[in-house]
Amino acid sequence: MGKYEPRNDRGHHRIRSDDPIALTLLKQEHHVFRSLFDKAEEASGRTRTAIARELCMRLSIHMTIEEEILYPALAPVIGEDEVNEGIVEHASGKALCAEIEQLDGDEPLFASKIHVLGEETVHHIDEEDEDLFEDALAAHAAGKLDLDAIGERLRSRQAELYDEIAETGEMGRTREAQAEEIDRV
Ligand SMILES: [Fe+2]
Ligand SMILES: [Fe+2]
Repeated sequence: MGKYEPRNDRGHHRIRSDDPIALTLLKQEHHVFRSLFDKAEEASGRTRTAIARELCMRLSIHMTIEEEILYPALAPVIGEDEVNEGIVEHASGKALCAEIEQLDGDEPLFASKIHVLGEETVHHIDEEDEDLFEDALAAHAAGKLDLDAIGERLRSRQAELYDEIAETGEMGRTREAQAEEIDRV
């Protein structure tokens, strides 16, 4: 087992039976990311390239639904700082994925790019599990947010984006935040 995957069963990364739909869905995906980054570290050649492509595709859908639906719902309730930090971290992941998607996998920096994407992404998703989601859960418990309703919206937008990729090979228009726009969000 790699270095990230064992975290899936620990602390706030674990999926609790009473977690609302939004947290169950997003934590499940965080689990998949930790496992895939571990697999990418162990793999080489075409297998590693295929894992990297899958990671970037899944990450891009995950970041899009967080930025379109979750973050805007959380910002007015738990404050913009945590949400904006997430947007900036996403932007850095998107930039690395854009580079990785241009590579075949035998370039000298390919493995390092995946490694750094893994370190940055796992830092980001760990923070979401530990801080952002716990704050959201407290707001949900206080009746200020409905993380089940948000979860249903996340799920249907996620399905729509996967369908688009299956049909066309890429996502159509998305409404996620652009890092340059954060000041104006
Ligand atoms: Fe995120
Ligand atoms: Fe996330």
